[in-house]
Amino acid sequence: MSASLVLGIETSCDETGVGLVRVSDEGSELLVDAVASSVDEHARYGGIIPEVASRAHLEAMVPTIERALATAGVTLADVDAVAVTAGPGLVGPLTVGASAAKALAIGLGRPLYGINHVIGHAAVDELVHGRFPDRFMALVVSGGHSSLLLVDDIATDVTELGQTLDDAAGEAFDKVGRLLGLPYPGGPHIDRLAREGTPSIRFPRGLTAAKDQAAHAYDFSFSGLKTAVARWVEARQDAGEDFSLPDVAASFAEAVADVLTAKTIAACRVHGVDTLVIGGGFSANSQLRDMAAQRCAEAGITVRIPPIKFCTDNGAMIAALGAAVVHRGLPPSSLDLPVDSSMPLTRITV
Ligand code: KG4
Ligand code: ZN
Repeated sequence: MSASLVLGIETSCDETGVGLVRVSDEGSELLVDAVASSVDEHARYGGIIPEVASRAHLEAMVPTIERALATAGVTLADVDAVAVTAGPGLVGPLTVGASAAKALAIGLGRPLYGINHVIGHAAVDELVHGRFPDRFMALVVSGGHSSLLLVDDIATDVTELGQTLDDAAGEAFDKVGRLLGLPYPGGPHIDRLAREGTPSIRFPRGLTAAKDQAAHAYDFSFSGLKTAVARWVEARQDAGEDFSLPDVAASFAEAVADVLTAKTIAACRVHGVDTLVIGGGFSANSQLRDMAAQRCAEAGITVRIPPIKFCTDNGAMIAALGAAVVHRGLPPSSLDLPVDSSMPLTRITV
């Protein structure tokens, strides 16, 4: 097939992302990844305010598209297909992106592809580390998702092996950060503290007991861990005892990394997979990175983690999955595609 230029738009949460990917039989090449974030506007509320995020997307959309085109040295007329996050995510923010993408597709007379954001987090790695093997495991971990995916073809064949039953990994870090009095988002602050501490406290590992193996071998649960950390800290405070905040952070971070890596490696073994892709904003976490590197090396598994700017939400990931879909010659989405805040992982595109 001749090369196609795919424009990807991401607005599921608080980042307005626009990416341009050129795809041909040679593979996918990233031309530009432009991102505008409204995270600072949410920090004072201690969480994302959907209405604030929607307005920020509206203001950032046209300038971010223009910046992406200018940086890549192309014009809208060069775009062959438009890909946009259709879900999962926040309805208002998703609607802003979908509306922009529909307007572009109609105005340019180009096909539109509604893309699953979570699968995009895995797809982006192909832009960095080259073609995927025939079969691989993907662990997508962020503030909104903790999903374990068996991928036979990123555009057509993804099986969800497990997901979090309550808090996502990043969400658990942010909640524990709040109870430890750290600024929002707490994840990076706990990571930093944890590197100064010793994991000397044994916190619970959710869904790892023998009784959970049958129904939840690859599912995660972090809310019990979060409560255990809260109780442990309260008990020390009530007793007027001193304790080491870095040690609490290190012990909590170790518990999360332990469960994520143990279940993922077990899934690789069971499915005979020797490549693991880790994506999503939480893959910045040092404790997860270190433990995954060490345990995968021991298990003979190759780990691929894109640089952090491709792990947090971005437009390149949507363009990357859009490019894979275009390259397979799959049919485009309808121009009236709905956004789906809880889009299931059984749907790669809409
Ligand atoms: O992918 P992302 O940017 O947005 C979502 O789709 O959620 O992920 C952000 C999440 C937040 O919960 C943040 O606290 C967490 O990832 N995070 C971290 C680290 N960097 C970001 N958590 C732990 N350690 C980090 N270094
Ligand atoms: Zn995400």
